[in-house]
Order: sequence, then structure tokens, then C-alpha cells
Amino acid sequence: MKRLLMSWGQSLCVGAVAAAVLTVGLSFSVNAGDDPIASRKAMMQTVKAATKLSVGMVKGERPFDPAVAELAVRAMNTAASGVVNFFPESSKTGGKTTASPKIWEDMAGFKAKMAKFEADTAKAVKAAANGADAFKVAFGAATKNCKGCHQEYRVKKKK
Ligand code: HEC
Repeated sequence: MKRLLMSWGQSLCVGAVAAAVLTVGLSFSVNAGDDPIASRKAMMQTVKAATKLSVGMVKGERPFDPAVAELAVRAMNTAASGVVNFFPESSKTGGKTTASPKIWEDMAGFKAKMAKFEADTAKAVKAAANGADAFKVAFGAATKNCKGCHQEYRVKKKK
């Protein structure tokens, strides 16, 4: 019983930390709505934090917790569904953006790639309830989107 309580406490703790990290990321991006570059960067940073958290569980570095897993991929899904609104014509340059001009040349292609990422993270949200193995597969598929999009629609960091 004591053991059970301890592991409960632990996972609640991880969950709370995760929730805090992800909520900070998302609320920042909403508050910074008048600065689209900072907003989309903050959303991508949230995606990164959620990815790190999920990778830890998939690799067994932290215990798999379906609630934390769901929270993480839900944050990724929320970012994926909203971030396309933060690429107005006026934000092609400035703010140390690494967004490629190709986004504005091919907005439909960019949006399609983001829609795929949104769909794959939605699948991972569902998979979280089906255990670690199911989550691993769905999360793996979702993270395949990062590189594909970055290679096509992102440029190397400007110094
Ligand atoms: C459909 C396109 C797309 C997908 C999918 C995508 N990204 Fe991005 N990402 C971008 C673009 C565009 C930028 C550049 C934003 C800018 O600098 O204005 C970016 C920037 C970033 C950044 C840098 C943010 C900063 O502070 O400058 C990180 C980190 C990142 N992405 C992580 C990820 C991870 C992790 C995934 C997958 C789990 C992912 N991204 C999936 C398009 C995408």
C-alpha cells in the first residue's frame, strides 16, 4: 500500500510539472499574440518540451503514465492546430525567425504538413490510454513530422 501511494505521488508530481511546463508555454504564446514570431516560437518550444517528456517515457527513463502521456501529446496537438495562424505576411523576417520564405510561397503545402502533424498527434492522444506500446508507435509516427517540415520550411539559425 505504501509502495502504491509512493508511486502515485511520483506520477502526480511528474504530471504537475508537465502540466506547468506545457501551460506556461501555451499561455505565453496566447499572450504574445501581437508578436507572431515570438508566439510561434513559444508554441514550438512547447512542442519540444512535450516531445522530451514523451521520449523519456517511451525510452523507459521515466515510468509510463497515461495521463502525462496524453497531456504531452495534447499540448503538441494544440500547438499544431493553432500555430498556422501565426505566419502573417508581415512576419517573414525579424525576431530571429528561422521560418523559410518557402512557407509564404507555398502556404497550402505548409498547412498540409501541419495538418498531418495535427492528425498524427491526435492519434497519439487516443493511443495514450492504450498503454505504453501503443503510445510508443503513435508518438513515433507523430515525431516523424518534425524533421520533414523543418527541412522543407525552416532555414538554419541566423546568428
Ligand atoms: C508543419 C511544420 C512543422 C512541424 C511538423 C514541426 N515544426 Fe518545429 N518549426 C516549424 C517552423 C516553421 C519553425 C520556425 C519558426 C520561426 O523561427 O519563426 C519551427 C521551429 C521549431 C523550434 C525552434 C523554436 C525557437 O524557439 O526558435 C523547435 C524547438 C521546434 N520547431 C521543434 C519541433 C518539434 C520537436 C517538432 C515535432 C514533434 C516540430 N517542431 C514539428 C515548423 C514545424
